[in-house]
Amino acid sequence: MTTSHHSAVTDAFLVTDKVALVTGGGNGIGQETAIVLASAGARVTATDVNEPGLLRTRTRAEELGLSIATQSLDVADPAAISDAVDDVMAAHGQLDILVNAAGIMIMRNALEVIPAELDTVFRINVGGTFFACQAAGRVMTPGSSIVNLTSSIQDRTSPGRITYAISKGGVAQLTRTFALELGPAGIRVNAIAPGWVETGMTDQHWTGNDGTIDHDRRAEYIAMMATASPLGVVGTTRDVALSVLQLASDAGSFITGQVVRINGGAFMA
Ligand SMILES: NC(=O)c1ccc[n+]([C@@H]2O[C@H](COP(=O)([O-])OP(=O)(O)OC[C@H]3O[C@@H](n4cnc5c(N)ncnc54)[C@H](O)[C@@H]3O)[C@@H](O)[C@H]2O)c1
Repeated sequence: MTTSHHSAVTDAFLVTDKVALVTGGGNGIGQETAIVLASAGARVTATDVNEPGLLRTRTRAEELGLSIATQSLDVADPAAISDAVDDVMAAHGQLDILVNAAGIMIMRNALEVIPAELDTVFRINVGGTFFACQAAGRVMTPGSSIVNLTSSIQDRTSPGRITYAISKGGVAQLTRTFALELGPAGIRVNAIAPGWVETGMTDQHWTGNDGTIDHDRRAEYIAMMATASPLGVVGTTRDVALSVLQLASDAGSFITGQVVRINGGAFMA
């Protein structure tokens, strides 16, 4: 391959000077996505309810010679989402990439779920993603891209997390509808369904109420999750963030309305 062909291919994955807004950017997949998008040239605003997490995002970026803006945002509040989009527009005059990574999971069997839990999970996972798509869709121009986070659970549910499972089914379905309605405006909307990735969300399986970590339980849990993959691995936040980059960049120009499954083959649709 000649150098010019090579750079044309790699350039397709760059998001130079594109403006990106990432929710849940203070930890895990959202934080890594903010770093990867900034590394690929975007001007990124990472948002979260977790202020110390946002500080860590900024510090990680600085250590890599990158700059990421951060802003407090609770995605359970539609008006706050709209304000955050307005702030990005005021600062940059454009919004090209939205990544909805904010999310929570409550572990509870179906018969024990109380109304407030269903409400909270829906307000954050479904409502947060929905209203961010809506606010961004109103200002985005052709060539823009939205990436939502659903989960393998939207295909294959498991016991003890019913509110999370149905919220992620909702995210997949809202992704398809936004893709249909925003497609004529040249805006692509996709979701990623990651398999198991170690993050703050998964830490709850081996972290005690006092914050102590059961290292044996952690090792056992990760080994168990890895057996689901024919590769014998679990994913990393970077695996997910690089797929977000493909969907966000021109490398994903022909991809819209899809749920992209990234799970090491643990589940094949
Ligand atoms: N880790 C996995 O194995 C996995 C698998 C499939 C899907 N996902 C999805 O990926 C996304 C990112 O999760 P993660 O694993 O990085 O978890 P994480 O807990 O590490 O990060 C989620 C972030 O969302 C933030 N958040 C929670 N409520 C919020 C709110 N109301 N407003 C704004 N921010 C809020 C948290 O503070 C946190 O920083 C989630 O939607 C999750 O459902 C994760």
